[in-house]
Amino acid sequence: MGFFAKPVAHFGKPALKVRVLGSAAGGGFPQWNCNCPNCSAVRKGSPHLQARTQSSIAATADATNWVLFNASPDILEQLKSFPTLQPARALRDTAIRAVFLMDAQIDHTTGLYMLREHRQKLELWCHSLVREDLSTGNPLLKVLEHYCGVNWHEVPLSSAGFGMPEVPGLHFEAIPLTSNAPPYSPHRNQPQPGDNVGVTLVDAATGKRLFYAPGLGQMEAPVWAAMQAADCVLVDGTLWTNDEMITLGASRKTSRDMGHMPQSGPDGMMEWLDKLPARTRKILIHINNTNPILDEASPQRAELHSHGIEVAYDGMDIEL
Ligand code: MLT
Ligand code: MN
Ligand code: ZN
Repeated sequence: MGFFAKPVAHFGKPALKVRVLGSAAGGGFPQWNCNCPNCSAVRKGSPHLQARTQSSIAATADATNWVLFNASPDILEQLKSFPTLQPARALRDTAIRAVFLMDAQIDHTTGLYMLREHRQKLELWCHSLVREDLSTGNPLLKVLEHYCGVNWHEVPLSSAGFGMPEVPGLHFEAIPLTSNAPPYSPHRNQPQPGDNVGVTLVDAATGKRLFYAPGLGQMEAPVWAAMQAADCVLVDGTLWTNDEMITLGASRKTSRDMGHMPQSGPDGMMEWLDKLPARTRKILIHINNTNPILDEASPQRAELHSHGIEVAYDGMDIEL
């Protein structure tokens, strides 16, 4: 084949792009008041550990219009580290065309306050239960009405999915996940479908699918179906063992009590990821500062590697 016959049909073709803005669980890494082995080591500048901000991703199918998944308390730092989201076409500008909230937790919503200077209402997609929590127990959306305000859209939990007019080329399918509502939720002790969702991002042009679930409490049939259908799964990597926080003396709750499947052990995340086809890209996100996988020299990190499982980091790009 001659030089000019080189196939270039895909060169520059828009594709589903995801930027990991933050990869840590609530508290970030290091967590401000924590002196666990990981937090101490990263503060001392160990070469085997990288600091991480609280979890959030941004996605686009046309390299221009982006949707933000969750608004982390660290959003301003995250935006500074990813100038693509500031295209500077006008005095006040952003490439973030819509925001999708997967739950009403502090680590996924507080960043909305930092977006208050938006010149229009924020196009906000979340389930009505999340909107209720953010209008009552933690009335963030009410406060935002004094600033930019939001244009709220219900997230349908139907298999047909939905699109966002502001984010062309992407299609979304949300499914309810079993987990807890936040402590300030009026239905804290009666979790309902919609309190937490997982979402599949579908590239309308190529059909490529990425499943995102930073908080996954237990494997259920619809979740497993979404994971099997995906080209890439970006899922809960909060804790390595179910009793990690108890053993450390950091909490009285197990990983599963907190709505997060641990990676190790029976019915753990690794066991499930092993059952996916070899071609599926498997990445953990929302990693708690206590998790030994944060240490790149740890046996736990080596174990993940031997299972073909990646660990998300701030600034990671995923392209499908
Ligand atoms: C969680 O994922 O369990 C919560 O975000 C924890 C928190 O931030 O308080
Ligand atoms: Mn969280
Ligand atoms: Zn720590």
